[in-house]
Amino acid sequence: MKNSGVLWAGRLEEKPEAEAFAFQASINVDRRMAEDDIRGSRAHAAMLGKQGIIPAEIAAALDNELGRIAEELKAGKIFIDDNAEDIHSFIEGVLTERLGDAGRMVHAGRSRNDQVALDLRLYLKRVVPELQGEIAAAISALLDKAEKHIDSVMPGYTHLQRAQPVTLAHHLCAWAAGLQRDHRRFTDALARLSEECPLGSGALAGTGLPLDREETARALGFAKPSLNSMDSVADRDFALEISSACAITQTHLSRFCEDMVIWASEEFKFIDLAESYSTGSSIMPQKKNPDFAELIRGKAGRTTGNLVTLLTLLKGLPYAYDKDLQEDKESLFDSLDTVRASMRIFGGMIGSAVFNTERMEAACIGGFLEATDAAEYLVRRGLPFRKAHEAAALIVRDCINAGQKTIAERPLPELKKRSELFENDLYEMLSPAACVKARNLPGGPAPEEVRRQIKVLREKIAGN
Ligand code: ARG
Repeated sequence: MKNSGVLWAGRLEEKPEAEAFAFQASINVDRRMAEDDIRGSRAHAAMLGKQGIIPAEIAAALDNELGRIAEELKAGKIFIDDNAEDIHSFIEGVLTERLGDAGRMVHAGRSRNDQVALDLRLYLKRVVPELQGEIAAAISALLDKAEKHIDSVMPGYTHLQRAQPVTLAHHLCAWAAGLQRDHRRFTDALARLSEECPLGSGALAGTGLPLDREETARALGFAKPSLNSMDSVADRDFALEISSACAITQTHLSRFCEDMVIWASEEFKFIDLAESYSTGSSIMPQKKNPDFAELIRGKAGRTTGNLVTLLTLLKGLPYAYDKDLQEDKESLFDSLDTVRASMRIFGGMIGSAVFNTERMEAACIGGFLEATDAAEYLVRRGLPFRKAHEAAALIVRDCINAGQKTIAERPLPELKKRSELFENDLYEMLSPAACVKARNLPGGPAPEEVRRQIKVLREKIAGN
């Protein structure tokens, strides 16, 4: 194959044979950065013109044509060529086809190495806020549900054993708090990657041409030009941060979905997932399966794998640019797509789910979830906690031996055998609702306190 049409024709007389060329091409992955690539080129071309590196009218023509290409791509009037090497060579190729030598001027003082480092940042600055919008929507769905279930008591679990009464609102707010931090993690990562603009770093060592790096950095929404040109083309820590934020977010979702899968079981029956978010079985006619929750749970494997892929890719890579770095995008894009799709489904699932509050409340009875409250009753009356704990534990044992399901079923004289401090007012403190109401410290499940938590979470998400 004769070597013409690729950006690096010249030194090499032969183009790699077709299969080898396709192997090193990245167009099918980096095509989604087309508008970011064009944005970077427009800023670069304008700066070249201002600096007198290329004639002003050529800079204007480049800007014009790049704008047109962006519009035509958007409108579906032209298509990205699957046989191009990458998005950078494709855009430059179209420009050159249309403008001749003017098109050939756009790459002065630039390498694809700083170009791709810029494009990926611009892409992330564009799409990560969209993903954050989905996170915010899922948080809203959780908080809307929580508001309806401020008083819906349910067992809180440790070791998947009934532990103490909480409310559904408290449980949903726990999830929302995790997602709120995920949202914030993306904000932090974006802020860091917006600090330094890599454009002008060239292949690795900058350029002798009098570029105005301050100007392009500002035009592209960065605080300043990057400090070190080798760092700019070699590092992908910003991609690692985003990939990591994706993996953490998806891990959160996988845990929430695991709760929902458990709740949807016949054994629990705490939740009735909407039919639109369930599937049937091809063999068992009675089945209604929580497939969507399971799939979100399963996809945490992908996002974890994607993070490990990127870490492994970077480990041991010699400075500065290596073609290995081209492999940075596929796993990152997959993580972004996965979290975004999962978040939408999760939000929809939560919004449409019906909670079986009677089952939840019933599950608070019989497991002695009120035992801690009985112990705290004694502490309030001056008994050292260890002794109070022991007394309550013995009472639980007495109840089990006597076939009693709750501490309240035990008459006062019997309770007094374990501690003289028990009085009649104990009985009104043992219902699940009373236990929940008493836990009104910051962070607790008491209705007033959870209302406050919802408010704080809503404010945080609005302020993000
Ligand atoms: N497609 C390449 C990438 O994604 C662009 C940079 C190519 N640079 C090079 N020296 N071959 O990394």
